[in-house]
Amino acid sequence: MPAEVKRFTTETVGLALAHDSAALHVQGRAIYIDDMREPEGTLHVAPGYASEGAKGRITRCDLDAVRNSPGVVAVLTAADIPGVNDCSPAMGDDPIFAEDEILFHGQVVFAVVAGTHDQARRAARRARIEIAKDPAAITVEDALEQGTPDVLPPYEFRRGEPEKRIAAAKMRLSDSFHVGGQEHFYLEGQVAFAMPEEAGGMTVYSSTQHPSEVQHCVAKMLGVADAFVTCECRRMGGGFGGKESQAAQWAALAALGAHKTGRPVKCRLDRDDDMIMTGKRHDMRIDYDAAFDKTGRLTAVDASLLSRCGYSADLSLGVNDRAMFHSDNAYYYPAVSIESRRLRTNTVSNTAFRGFGGPQGMMLAERMMDAIAHRLALDPLHVRKRNFYGPKRDRTPYGMKVTDNIIAEVVAELEKTSDYYARREAIKDFNAKNRILKKGLALTPVKFGISFTLIHLNQAGALVHLYTDGSVHLNHGGTEMGQGLYIKVAQVVAEEFGITPDRVKITATTTGKVPNTSPTAASSGSDLNGMAAKEAASQIKKRLIAFAEREWQVAPDQIRFEKGRVIIANQSMSLGELAKRAHQARIQLSATGFYATPNITWNRDKVKGKPFFYFAYGASCSEVTIDTLTGEMRVDRVDILHDVGRSLNPAIDLGQIEGGFVQGMGWLTTEELVFDKEGRLRTHAPSTYKIPCASDVPADFRVKLFASPGNLANTIYRSKAVGEPPLMLALSVFSAITDAIAALKPGTAPPLEAPATPEAILKAVKAMSA
Ligand code: MTE
Ligand code: MOS
Repeated sequence: MPAEVKRFTTETVGLALAHDSAALHVQGRAIYIDDMREPEGTLHVAPGYASEGAKGRITRCDLDAVRNSPGVVAVLTAADIPGVNDCSPAMGDDPIFAEDEILFHGQVVFAVVAGTHDQARRAARRARIEIAKDPAAITVEDALEQGTPDVLPPYEFRRGEPEKRIAAAKMRLSDSFHVGGQEHFYLEGQVAFAMPEEAGGMTVYSSTQHPSEVQHCVAKMLGVADAFVTCECRRMGGGFGGKESQAAQWAALAALGAHKTGRPVKCRLDRDDDMIMTGKRHDMRIDYDAAFDKTGRLTAVDASLLSRCGYSADLSLGVNDRAMFHSDNAYYYPAVSIESRRLRTNTVSNTAFRGFGGPQGMMLAERMMDAIAHRLALDPLHVRKRNFYGPKRDRTPYGMKVTDNIIAEVVAELEKTSDYYARREAIKDFNAKNRILKKGLALTPVKFGISFTLIHLNQAGALVHLYTDGSVHLNHGGTEMGQGLYIKVAQVVAEEFGITPDRVKITATTTGKVPNTSPTAASSGSDLNGMAAKEAASQIKKRLIAFAEREWQVAPDQIRFEKGRVIIANQSMSLGELAKRAHQARIQLSATGFYATPNITWNRDKVKGKPFFYFAYGASCSEVTIDTLTGEMRVDRVDILHDVGRSLNPAIDLGQIEGGFVQGMGWLTTEELVFDKEGRLRTHAPSTYKIPCASDVPADFRVKLFASPGNLANTIYRSKAVGEPPLMLALSVFSAITDAIAALKPGTAPPLEAPATPEAILKAVKAMSA
């Protein structure tokens, strides 16, 4: 164990406690926004859009039939907005209501406020909107062809002259492939409930990963100061990045409705509208040239990531940067150029999705490993290991040195526990004996950078109250979306006071208690808020200790907080008794805590510095069987070994790993977004968009936490972030499918596109048989 990692003895941190709302979840008693008791007079708002057209001037917008619909109280358009008609996170390019032109099919043009949700939706359908259609760019190829200006400038990481090396190389590869997007499919759709308050105030309950952003958006839209708007979120039924920036528009509609009518107004998107009107994971075309030696080791990589951003910038800067930051995954690229284009298309603006571009970038790395291995007829695991970061091969394409690399250990252990080599032989045998069914096996690594690459977001605040009965009220800036952040932070606070977590009341995230928060994203929720809450609790504890020292004339080391008691020299009292005594002595029992991640220095303009506090590592091994006649695929077995440092809560962490993996598997195998030539999303319901269900979980699924001595970086109890990295473990499924197809024609890299749906598999099989 490295000397700098000190051992902790803990009572509560590290326990495999159930999610704080687990019982409520399974009983249907957890209160989501739409479960909140509706005050008398509550109204409902539904958005409306043009039934046809992806780009063009609005030539007619006749809303008479909408106004005359049963139950309609108000019809809202851009003209009703007292402040600014924008719900963008930064660039001012996302109108709440389209005004003169629409830029994608499904863009909101108006909204209806009515007595019931159903009345509002029915009325919204009665609009007559006509568009003078302009040629629209739907795909990456359209955008390249039409030469429309990108949503954001291109960006590049470069070291050396990969083009020259590739041109001079004996062995080289070039390829162009597509990686699909992904719909978030949170079980709770976008929803917000706005309550008008006296004197121009507004309280908005929003299913959002970013309450501060909703607050800003609503205040700016209403033309009031931020302090007049409060945004609260107790929990989301999933966010997955889809509610990082894109919860704002629906909160704005509810708040505008409430402002106009003076009544509480709720906006809950119907599933189809949600899928049509909100952004998804960025799909990309990735082009690359690579040079390598006969052992499979890369000498140069020259790649471009061509990303479909949609009609506006949204979070495309950070997402596409993160794709670039992860285009190396765990591999060293000696000479390299990674270029990124952020293409403007007339489709909904793509946004954050678990991994935040990282998964798309990693597809490049794993795709190259597979292509080199299959070309050289080497075991892909051998090629992967040849290319790992290691001594003197430790600089990323963006110049950061990798100093906490444990990928070789993780992979070595998984190789053993998954019985990789024996199964490799068995699969060769199986494939030799079976003409139609083919098996594939792949073991792939994950290295994922932790920190927001927009440095100022790496901060968090918390508010802790100790009451005189010894119970604790906990609040922090992080939001709960099912990932278990609240229980983890409660464990940290309970630990600090030496009490059980049931004495800690977890309360809803609200801009009124902890202000100026960052989104709960980049997997950094527990890193940031755990530290901030610990700091708040520790301040109160320090005051209690100082008080006890004076009161009982003892030294500080004679005071201990443990097992719900406070031991002061030779007497013991409950935390409540001590709190009461301190209160009577007029000691403050409330504190705010703050944390800013140290030691991160990324300078984007100079392409220089250290963007990540540390890396999370993991590896997975997947075995699949494909049917070469139908393209059907089955995942037979999955082994995962993932590093969470010293786990704050192993039950929650395992859940995140399993869930993340399955979500990644969905992205790469069954979830396919289809836009038609008119820019309409044809896969806007579960009937046409296939997410994994319980029966898609691999029948043989072995998930383990890596026995880590603790994070080398000084994080909360030396834990590591776990929210996003496991999604990318699913790349082993894609590689295993590639491996199965490669069995058809040794020496050739299969041209498989993602998602590897049965159609895509069949297409690759056909190409290999040609
Ligand atoms: N887990 C559940 N159950 N639901 C979610 O919406 N979102 C993921 C991940 N795990 C998500 C989830 C994403 S995109 C992120 S960034 C992290 O959780 C955010 O939470 P954390 O920072 O507390 O890990
Ligand atoms: Mo997660 S994509 O960073 O919300």
